[in-house]
Amino acid sequence: MDLIIKNGTIVTPTGKIKADVGVKEGKIALIAQSIDTPCDNVVDATGKYVLPGAIDGHTHLAMPFGGTISSDDYFAGTRAAACGGTTTVFDFVLQDFGESMVDTIKRRDAMCAPDAAVDYAFHVAVKDVSNGLIDTIEDAVNYGVPSFKVFMVYDFGVDDGVFYQVLEKAKSCNALIEVHAENKDIIAARTKQYLAEGKTSAWYHYMSRPEFVEAEADNRAIAWAKELNAPLYIVHLANKEGVKAVAQAQSEGYEIYAETCPQYLEFTSDVYKREDGRNFVCSPPMKGEESKKALWKAINSGIISTIATDHCPFQSYEKDWGKDDFTKIPNGCAGIENMFPYMLSAANEGKVSYEKAVELCCSNPARIFGCTEKGAIEVGKDADIVIYDPDTEFTITNDKMHSDCDHTIWEGVTLKGYLTHTYSRGRLVYKDGEFLGEKGWGKFVKRKRG
Ligand code: URP
Ligand code: ZN
Ligand code: ZN
Repeated sequence: MDLIIKNGTIVTPTGKIKADVGVKEGKIALIAQSIDTPCDNVVDATGKYVLPGAIDGHTHLAMPFGGTISSDDYFAGTRAAACGGTTTVFDFVLQDFGESMVDTIKRRDAMCAPDAAVDYAFHVAVKDVSNGLIDTIEDAVNYGVPSFKVFMVYDFGVDDGVFYQVLEKAKSCNALIEVHAENKDIIAARTKQYLAEGKTSAWYHYMSRPEFVEAEADNRAIAWAKELNAPLYIVHLANKEGVKAVAQAQSEGYEIYAETCPQYLEFTSDVYKREDGRNFVCSPPMKGEESKKALWKAINSGIISTIATDHCPFQSYEKDWGKDDFTKIPNGCAGIENMFPYMLSAANEGKVSYEKAVELCCSNPARIFGCTEKGAIEVGKDADIVIYDPDTEFTITNDKMHSDCDHTIWEGVTLKGYLTHTYSRGRLVYKDGEFLGEKGWGKFVKRKRG
């Protein structure tokens, strides 16, 4: 064995077992009550949990957006991921007009491959399906990228016709379509009105896109998916009516998934009243208390399948562009290092079970996105492993984070328990607050949906 983790409690989606874990050549090679084979690298995990590395299904690294580029490049973002127990990140790569889906993937991979410190995968954000490009979705599926996203908002969003075509195509080749659902036209109308009235603070970011603006788009997207019987994955679900729509479709037997993010579970729209409210500006915005409660409930009842971060950090000076005009604030926040610790802390506090945290952050994203080698402590899987000490306390401050960003919306949030080790394919990449990985270690994960 290259590594043995002894005396820990392994968490699976269905239970906990006290056992040792043996790692050989980057894979989990043995799980047994006691592994006593000679090994130079034995780690004692007495009193600790042994968990699969998390999979963050939603990140925007070095993303050109809001008049700038998100501040974490591939190295910084994956370094922070490793330090938060996330061993696979999914980046959204924006298709260029006229570009095939496989060329989009290869273009991005050429940029990322030398820099990533943990494994990475892509979803293609589709912009152009004209002139036969729709068929290149199938080529991308065959290349190992079976998930695509459409934005119903932003200048790179698609119209309803393109969304419909993409859903139809995806169904025929076992791809999954993800959607950022908000009603673009209502946002534009409300924004225009607020600006005309001189209402320019961060609070009006929320007011321009409140609950119903997201819920309406969720319902519309689900209606099309139902009509076509195509699978659909709603990213960053943040409102209670959307939860209802997802639950209804699931109860009718449709393959509809929902993802939410820790920021929607922790904060409410009240953050936009704060002096530093612009730092919390992301889309969809944080919603009211009732939506927050509905999201927690949906997690525990299984309506929400995954947690991801939507990590898209911008520096303070960039957020400041919108001090006097909320429309000039680049949308997005940092979170890649906080997701797994936050959900494990929630488990430690009894808000969810540890098994549920593993399901949401590890096994469900692996299953839904087709990462067959990831997401579980099981013999034969990649040795992406996190050791977690439930008996410490950790207060998040930006100086302890590993992103290239000068602030975090998580500043001052205290977590019960924290990670002590992260392994990526058997290699130690984080220990006790310190990044120990390396640029270029991360590999592109090719996938196949079951
Ligand atoms: O505000 C956000 N969420 N920024 C990233 C882009 C997106 O909408 O996912
Ligand atoms: Zn989005
Ligand atoms: Zn996003």
